[in-house]
Amino acid sequence: MVMSIFQVVVTYVSLLWFVRLSEGFPDPAQRDLLMRQEASRQTGGRVVLTEAEQMLDLHLHQLKVQEMSAALFPPAVHFFKAKPLIQKSPIFKLLQDMPKGAALHIHTSSLVGVEWLVKNITYRPHCYICFTWDNSVRFLFSDRQPFPRWDCFYWQLLETLRAKIGNTEGFDNSLMQHLTLFTDDPDGEYPSQEVVWEKLEKAFIAGAGLISHAPVLKDYFYRGLEELLQDNIMYLELRSGLSRVCVALFTPDP
Ligand SMILES: *[C@@H]1O[C@H](CO)[C@@H](O)[C@H](O)[C@H]1NC(C)=O
Repeated sequence: MVMSIFQVVVTYVSLLWFVRLSEGFPDPAQRDLLMRQEASRQTGGRVVLTEAEQMLDLHLHQLKVQEMSAALFPPAVHFFKAKPLIQKSPIFKLLQDMPKGAALHIHTSSLVGVEWLVKNITYRPHCYICFTWDNSVRFLFSDRQPFPRWDCFYWQLLETLRAKIGNTEGFDNSLMQHLTLFTDDPDGEYPSQEVVWEKLEKAFIAGAGLISHAPVLKDYFYRGLEELLQDNIMYLELRSGLSRVCVALFTPDP
């Protein structure tokens, strides 16, 4: 009698187990184990933190919680609006100092910030500018007034133009606008992919005239490495075209 009750219970339990598995409800403990195994296989998954590292980890976690509860959470807004928030973020400051591995996909033509291009490169002597019919600009380093080209009718020496305009700050900002996609109103200004793509191409063409002058290119690379160093990036993979670089000042054909 006792035996048969025991047998019934055992049969019932094993049936229940079978039903749970076959209906797609695996044991939650098994799932937890799997998750732990998975985490241990991630990079650094088996590293045991020291006490100081645990404190830093806690600090970082608290900063993240704080940032997520702010009214504007940077990952949730357009990058043009998020960038100033990121630059002020204590988490970014902390991450900025940490050693990074590599920047693996940087194009030569977008290696350096536009601020430096305008404030440094366009202030060098022999820099000419031309405004194109499609609201873009071209730059050229030349030892004399360049001849008109199909895309550029009238070249002006930047130094002279700046002096004539007077409002240097405003003028420099307008030059920067030609070299970057940044704007206060991204949704209004770029209603479609075509529009933003066209602006991107124009910015690259405009910038190319500045950096295809050899002495500039040399400083440009150096400056790019300095900017990466500010973020503690230790390795750079640079993607570069093989377009010609003018070693001497451009002298137009007679
Ligand atoms: C421009 O950059 C060069 C080289 O990086 C530097 O020596 C020079 O001082 C800079 N000039 C200005 C006006 O910032």
